[in-house]
Amino acid sequence: MRAEELLQTLVRRTGLTEQHVQTLRSLEPIAGPLAPEVALAFYDYLGRDPEMHEILWGVPGRVERLYRSFAVWYREIFAGVYDANYALRRMHIGLVHARVGVRPGHFIPAVGIVQELTLEHLRNALRGSDILAAITAFEKIMSIEIALMQESYFSALWEGLKLTQNEQEALREGARVLLEQAH
Ligand code: HEM
Repeated sequence: MRAEELLQTLVRRTGLTEQHVQTLRSLEPIAGPLAPEVALAFYDYLGRDPEMHEILWGVPGRVERLYRSFAVWYREIFAGVYDANYALRRMHIGLVHARVGVRPGHFIPAVGIVQELTLEHLRNALRGSDILAAITAFEKIMSIEIALMQESYFSALWEGLKLTQNEQEALREGARVLLEQAH
């Protein structure tokens, strides 16, 4: 499925309306500046898992690079622009993870941590019904994030199974092929 078509399906399925988009955009002044802080807490959490620690710190300079890419990703959640380019960027991020052997079992609990860290901040910064509106909009965009990620894993696996029957290898190789095609 093309990125734009997939995104439209996900927007419809999650019920993300223009009102939710505006709510997310209105959160940018609160959430945007928190991006570096959330990134620090996020990689601190990932680093406590031995397997993820090895993936992140086993390659010199990697985690330092990731602090920045994560912060960009985080700010984009609240940019309020969820178009075909956004979907393509997200699917690209999914493929990068598949290529380096990061699996849904690593990724999805990590998304939960991002949610936890963000909700904590929103709860402190907002009052009354604004909290519920913010949480509703945020959860919708995070569901879209997860679905785009999962779909890109699925495409990678499908592509890779044409090359090998080994699932782990198929995921990595398929992602490599799709990333090359995208360039
Ligand atoms: C909410 C979850 C996560 C987000 C938002 C996220 C975000 C990102 C972004 C934006 C990139 C850069 C992609 C690119 O080059 O275009 C990236 C790469 C990467 N991420 Fe994640 N990530 C998440 C979870 C994880 C987890 C759980 C791991 C496991 C250890 C991980 C390890 C990596 C690695 C190894 C790279 C490649 C870095 C490189 O060498 O360039 N990520 N991530």
